[in-house]
Amino acid sequence: MTSLWLARHELPPSDPLDRLDGAEDIIVGAGLTGLVTALLLARAGRRVAVLEARTLAAVTTGNTTAKLSLLQGARLQEVQHRTTQRVARAYLDANRAGMDWLTEFIGDAGVPMQRRQSVSYAATDNGAALIDREYRVARSLGLPVTRLADAGLPFPTRAAIGLADQAQFDPLDVALALAAELRTLGGTIHEGVRVRGAKAGRPVVVHTSVGDVTGSTLTLASGTPVLDRGLYFAKLEAKRSYAASYAVNGPLPAAMSLSVDQPTHSIRTTPSDDGGELLLVGGLGHGVGRHPSPASRVAHLDEWTQTHWPGARRTHVWSAQDYESPHGVPFVGHLPRGRGRVYLATGYDKWGMANSAQCALTLAATMLGELPDWARVLHHRITTPVALARGLGMGAAVARHYATGWAGALRSLPADAPREGQGAVGREGIRLVADSCVDGTRHRVSPVCTHMGAILSWNDQEKSWDCPAHGSRFTADGCRLEGPACRDLRRK
Ligand SMILES: Cc1cc2nc3c(=O)[nH]c(=O)nc-3n(C[C@H](O)[C@H](O)[C@H](O)COP(=O)(O)OP(=O)(O)OC[C@H]3O[C@@H](n4cnc5c(N)ncnc54)[C@H](O)[C@@H]3O)c2cc1C
Ligand code: FES
Repeated sequence: MTSLWLARHELPPSDPLDRLDGAEDIIVGAGLTGLVTALLLARAGRRVAVLEARTLAAVTTGNTTAKLSLLQGARLQEVQHRTTQRVARAYLDANRAGMDWLTEFIGDAGVPMQRRQSVSYAATDNGAALIDREYRVARSLGLPVTRLADAGLPFPTRAAIGLADQAQFDPLDVALALAAELRTLGGTIHEGVRVRGAKAGRPVVVHTSVGDVTGSTLTLASGTPVLDRGLYFAKLEAKRSYAASYAVNGPLPAAMSLSVDQPTHSIRTTPSDDGGELLLVGGLGHGVGRHPSPASRVAHLDEWTQTHWPGARRTHVWSAQDYESPHGVPFVGHLPRGRGRVYLATGYDKWGMANSAQCALTLAATMLGELPDWARVLHHRITTPVALARGLGMGAAVARHYATGWAGALRSLPADAPREGQGAVGREGIRLVADSCVDGTRHRVSPVCTHMGAILSWNDQEKSWDCPAHGSRFTADGCRLEGPACRDLRRK
């Protein structure tokens, strides 16, 4: 499923591998985090190389909904509840710094961006209580949100708050502009290069699919970190959600909106190629590999959109995942046992536009100079009992999925070949097989995740094998797509 953003743009060619020689800073991942970090370092005169397993912005950045906002649903109360008011304030300051950097870059680069009011709304009584709390927490942190009598949506709402002058854009426009400036400063982007491991010596040696690469520093901007040091995969919950664009006859909402009720619905518009506007609807998230039928989520998204914008015609549909930390604040800085030369940034929980820029600012400041005050507060936060309990809950869910996955895999594989677009896991004699059929071709691979051995589950929307433990994903024929796994599945 190709996103509206990726479908709209042609990507420039990858840089030749011989230009990797002499790079000082190696960045893994050409999403927003990797590109902003790379550009900040290149602007400081460093020679930067970005290694990207797939193509520019191919993963979450190219499949986001790209709302850039300091009002993030009910996030501020969540961060404050899981940490402290001081940390929540620093989180807000960090996001403001990230947003300011990104909007200035977008303005300077001449990239189209629309200023919009950001709205959090509720359609239920429980949601209305969340809205009320978010209003009070936001105001106590100095964010000038206002209560709205009318959310400007074509259905009734129980409560809504708004924040003026936030922004939305096409994330590929931004990724391409970042890549272009990086290249003018001598930086390089190497696509189709998968990082498989690293030794944090002097120099850092990075093991990749095209051989070893060396540098003074290594930054993992790979979504979830692709090195297991620090066990970040166990401290993050991978969540997948859906988005679709629609051509609509009739009025479209003026604001960017997000429901605080579950399941969430995210709404914005975007300029269309014919000079009009498209409606974008997203949400309906769940743990990666933990929903029996992701295709049914898309059907739900279509149905919900048709109910509220009758006659809406879907033009594109896509899905992506992001990672949540137990305390609701991103992990950023040195990777443990990386000898001060390996860095990471992750855990934006679907608020990665401002957060990836603020983490990039933190990473560049860590490497080049003084950390801003907000970064110090975020770095020295303590783990509260609430965050600890959330982390334990995440661990318990992973253990449950290991157990149920293996119990299911030990049952016999159905005798019949899977139907088109379907997949099944089971035992054939003593072998475990993940059997699927995509575009008329049958694929048989190992159902055991190459990261840490959980049993994969079939994603009937993306036609992929998804891991319910830590979110790795593989194509039907076993190629690694994303997540902490570094190796492909064994083919049967
Ligand atoms: C459906 C959805 C909607 C969202 N909407 C919003 C929104 O409206 N506003 C907002 O603020 N945030 C939103 N987010 C969150 C935001 O999109 C992400 O947080 C952000 O794009 C993450 O950027 P990133 O660079 O960290 O990760 P990515 O864009 O995923 O980049 C990581 C890159 O690393 C590469 N990589 C991974 N492993 C390796 C390896 N081993 N070797 C080499 N390369 C590797 C990947 O191929 C990938 O290109 C949304 C997220 C989702 C899922
Ligand atoms: S991603 Fe860790 S076991 Fe699959």
